[in-house]
Amino acid sequence: MTLPLAILASGSGTNLESIARRIEQGLLDARINLVLSNRPGTRGLERAEGMGLPARVEDHKAYPDRASHEEAVIAAIREHGAEAVVLAGYMRLVSRDFVQAFSGQVLNIHPSLLPGFRGAHAQRDAAEYGVRLSGATVHFVDEHMDHGPVIIQAAVPASPEDDGDSLAGRILALEHRIYPQAVQWLAQGRLRVRQGRVYLDDAPQPVAEESPGGPCLISPGLERGF
Ligand code: GAR
Repeated sequence: MTLPLAILASGSGTNLESIARRIEQGLLDARINLVLSNRPGTRGLERAEGMGLPARVEDHKAYPDRASHEEAVIAAIREHGAEAVVLAGYMRLVSRDFVQAFSGQVLNIHPSLLPGFRGAHAQRDAAEYGVRLSGATVHFVDEHMDHGPVIIQAAVPASPEDDGDSLAGRILALEHRIYPQAVQWLAQGRLRVRQGRVYLDDAPQPVAEESPGGPCLISPGLERGF
């Protein structure tokens, strides 16, 4: 089944683009029914328009409170017939009602190895802390920020010379690989959550250790093409 998606993005939209490209390549069995931004004039909206995707702004500043903004976002997603919601640099907390509205089919990507370094400045915070490993996590979303059952993680080395920007670039390259893979597993109905843990095919999975951008560790391993 082709999974109809809504992609929510607040910023530059590179993850949105990586998912759209995988769909174009026939690797990802999904369709982007809506790209929604809570901020007008973003690079993400430009990218969506450039790729011919339906794009819409629901500016949170135009609503009196968080709840009424979220209601409008839910209505827009439903109007476009999306069944799963992909948060791709969407810098707004979503509520439990939001998660339930899409039967738990809400994913997020975060640029750290969760549960470390949640929040809006994960790469900078990790670099300032002096971590020697960092990475990215795709997870099912619950009502807490950057929190919920982990689907896939990818790790990259970090050094004392790194700052937030250098680390962010290294992590982003992996985000563009693991997010489309996680969405494909969702589209294929291969993910099960039991007691807060995510199982892929209900079977043990290999860990892959390879990357064109240098050493990394990805678990579960990516499938061909991702
Ligand atoms: C990505 O690095 C994503 O992991 C991060 O925002 C960036 C969006 O980039 N998300 C968070 O920090 C969520 N807490 P993009 O707009 O180019 O995809």
